[in-house]
Amino acid sequence: MIKYIPHLLVVLLAGCSDSTGIPDYKRADLSVEKRVSDLLARMTIEEKAGQLNQLAGDLNTGPASGNADWQHKLQSIKNGEVGSMLNVVGAGKTKQVQQAALDSRLGIPLLFGYDVMHGYKTIFPIPLAEACSWDLVQIEKNATVAANETSAAGVHWTFGPMCDIGNDPRWGRVMEGAGEDPWLGAQIAASRVKGLQGNLDSNHILACVKHYAGYGAVEGGKEYAYTDMSRTELWNKYLPPYKAAVEAGAATVMNGFNTFEGTPVTGNKYLLDEVLKNKWNFKGFVVSDWNSIGEMVNWGYATDNKDAALKALTAGSMMDMETKALVAHIPELVKEGKVSMQLIDDAVGRILYYKFKLGLFDHPFAYSDEQREAATLLNEKHRKEALEAAKRSIILLQNENNALPLNNNTKKIALVGLFAQDKKHLFDFWVAQGDFNEAVSLQEGLQSVFANTAISYSQGYEADRAISNQTLIADAVNKARAADVVIVNIGLSGEIAGEARSLSDVSIPQNQIALLKELKKTGKKIIAVVSSGRPMILSEITGLCDAIVYTWILGTESGNAIAQVLSGKYNPSAKTVMSFPLAAGQIPVYYNHFRTGRPATANSNEVWVSRYRDISNEPLYPFGFGLSYTTFSYSNLELSDSALQRENTLRVKVTVTNTGSFDGEEVVQLYINDVTSSILRPVKELKGFKKVFLEKGESKVMEFILTNEELSFYDGAGNKVLEEGWFEVFAGGNSRDVLTTRFRLK
Ligand code: BGC
Repeated sequence: MIKYIPHLLVVLLAGCSDSTGIPDYKRADLSVEKRVSDLLARMTIEEKAGQLNQLAGDLNTGPASGNADWQHKLQSIKNGEVGSMLNVVGAGKTKQVQQAALDSRLGIPLLFGYDVMHGYKTIFPIPLAEACSWDLVQIEKNATVAANETSAAGVHWTFGPMCDIGNDPRWGRVMEGAGEDPWLGAQIAASRVKGLQGNLDSNHILACVKHYAGYGAVEGGKEYAYTDMSRTELWNKYLPPYKAAVEAGAATVMNGFNTFEGTPVTGNKYLLDEVLKNKWNFKGFVVSDWNSIGEMVNWGYATDNKDAALKALTAGSMMDMETKALVAHIPELVKEGKVSMQLIDDAVGRILYYKFKLGLFDHPFAYSDEQREAATLLNEKHRKEALEAAKRSIILLQNENNALPLNNNTKKIALVGLFAQDKKHLFDFWVAQGDFNEAVSLQEGLQSVFANTAISYSQGYEADRAISNQTLIADAVNKARAADVVIVNIGLSGEIAGEARSLSDVSIPQNQIALLKELKKTGKKIIAVVSSGRPMILSEITGLCDAIVYTWILGTESGNAIAQVLSGKYNPSAKTVMSFPLAAGQIPVYYNHFRTGRPATANSNEVWVSRYRDISNEPLYPFGFGLSYTTFSYSNLELSDSALQRENTLRVKVTVTNTGSFDGEEVVQLYINDVTSSILRPVKELKGFKKVFLEKGESKVMEFILTNEELSFYDGAGNKVLEEGWFEVFAGGNSRDVLTTRFRLK
């Protein structure tokens, strides 16, 4: 973690120069701390306020806020009124805009930020899909590729990883995160930060932990909505991924659009000041989300932008994305004594620190190198990684009678579905500079893998779920009749995944169900390939197809990856990181729920218990679930001790055997349950996993270590608590089908 102590140094080193008159802040031989302090001492309050101002460039990723044209923007930059720009990309463009900052009185370079959620030009699977790989090495590599491309295109900073726990598929933004589990989310968040930031050289970029905090709990899955929760829920369920990302060294944190304890989080002192700054000792800077400072007025928490600026600043927000409230009001707020100069210096100092750290004062164009840009973006090496990542993200959910993998001598495939051919559906909202024309469709992927197979194509359904087109269905049915196997690509377009894309209905569209019903009547083998940026309700299709392959939104190498899975060239190994609901009424449904005073027994007809009277409580596919072309069995779950002393560690062993007829990888999962505790704990909590490759017939003993860290939980003050008593330990290939044992902590 980088250390920075601005205030002492401001006083000691203000405004120094060497014998040649070069100001200290321009001297590369001095420490970053000295340079920051020297620069701060030279800045006017207006220039300091300018450093906290972030403006959008060419693209709006929020409601247009009446930004002036480029001429005016460049003039503001020259006037020292802008510290950072977002959505300005490309080596050439960033160079041009950076020049304006260098022409300002003190020549303070700009920091360019951009959303690179799953790749810059080479598009990787959406983060939610990538998380289903449970492959931290691959996840880190993916982030590194994204950082290499982004940094080659003039950009220093990305607004990711998104660390919001997501368990409500109606919320379009679940696609940006790592699912419903805090422990797995924490591991993944840390890997993403490491991959993005590396050692902060000019091949890497600053990370931004967002959306701090608790945005995933939006009421009804509705975007930009109210959230609230207890502090114990916050600490145990929502904070762990943000915390892990901060501990991994993330340079910046972004506010959410949501609320906590009755205030917008952008103005929440507890989260920003008490927890982030003081308890976690975060040394980087906090950026607001797009106009989230100004939106405090809409929430009814601030009277106007000046009041919003005051509330945001004093709570611990630092850089203002797109409200322009800080640049407008800081000088008067300081003059009126409402905000201290020390607070402003602290915020500005943190931003300057990273500008120095990235070398922008000494080499302002190091990131804006056209040659590097041309050699880096979408190169073969990156496409190869994207293919690896995509294969590893695909989940096999159903495979009746080993319908998959497809036989090598399949003569005729009927490929059905709009999404299998029309590439724009392969990309979601957050594809940065990715171009869907450069992506591989399912049709193209199948054609290259099944080079000797006749593949017919029919569209099958309209994009608009309300239109059931009988002509399209009839054409698909005719082509299905003439084929050996039908591959039908259904689901939701990637265009409906991401920000501002909440849905009330996450079931498979009825026009696609109508198509499946007719295809089913042909008696052919039906393989459903489901594309979507969120888990969908699949209950209506399980009986209409032989296999279900959940492919999410996979990016540039989509079609190649899916074809490799369908053909068995790659044996699927991914596991869900969000539970798949059985029905809409269960949402949100997640494995790590709490117990109840009136538990339901399986298949119970009991009345006075906690259950739905019309459906099961269980999701269709639980967290951690995913099939392989082979099968795995679990045996001999053993603990090193049945009575554990505090401070000791417990070894857990379980034998996993590949009992099927393919080699394959399995994600071996370890869960615990704290049976009795002073603050209620979930029925199961993931505390370990290992991805292991087993040849057919091979067995391995997998070993996990449980320490006090895994056995403890947070109290409402954010302190770890370890309590004696019984713990259950579970091991298995998903959160439902597990072996169980127990031990007592003394
Ligand atoms: C989103 C952020 C994003 C920002 C900048 C906002 O609307 O909520 O996740 O980083 O825009 O594009």
